[in-house]
Amino acid sequence: MNIKMVSTKDLDEIFRLESNTFKKDAFSKNSILNLIINNTFFFKLINKDNSNEIVGFIIVIQDQEHRVNLINLIISKQYQNKGYGSHLLKYTLFKIKEMNNIEVIVLNVNSKNEVAIWLYQKFGFRIVQKIENYYRQKKSAYLMILNI
Ligand SMILES: CC(C)(COP(=O)(O)OP(=O)(O)OC[C@H]1O[C@@H](n2cnc3c(N)ncnc32)[C@H](O)[C@@H]1OP(=O)(O)O)[C@@H](O)C(=O)NCCC(=O)NCCS
Repeated sequence: MNIKMVSTKDLDEIFRLESNTFKKDAFSKNSILNLIINNTFFFKLINKDNSNEIVGFIIVIQDQEHRVNLINLIISKQYQNKGYGSHLLKYTLFKIKEMNNIEVIVLNVNSKNEVAIWLYQKFGFRIVQKIENYYRQKKSAYLMILNI
């Protein structure tokens, strides 16, 4: 597995993974394109043993002078629970720390998404707020933060 920056050539493959994962809650193709063009970090994890298939990706944007927002983290279904999400997150946290000016990382996660919450907590993120009706169908989110 390798980690690389996403480019516009990856748009279709990334969008497929995004919509297979989040269905109606997925980002539109146009939003993904905008995020490819305007991101702080948009990394893909690729399987070099299978034609560089995209196994997962992570998107981070800087939304304040000293803050980044982890917008999305996905590992393709058949590759989940093998440590790849942890690997990609660990690499990204390292890159954020290298920026030197970032003091806090924020993210929103579906409050029922136990695996993701577990993963973020493993890396030190704390739940600071529950936001009701954040997603469609009144699903709530947790706001999680990590001070660095
Ligand atoms: C969240 C996601 C990225 C995690 O990726 P992954 O590669 O499966 O994660 P890892 O294998 O590195 O780690 C999963 C951890 O969850 C644990 N886990 C698995 N099932 C679990 C469950 N039902 N409840 C709690 N923890 C669970 C695993 O034991 C592992 O913990 P460990 O590292 O202590 O052993 C992946 O599940 C995914 O893409 N989900 C769909 C998209 C999504 O919801 N993304 C989050 C958006 S904010």
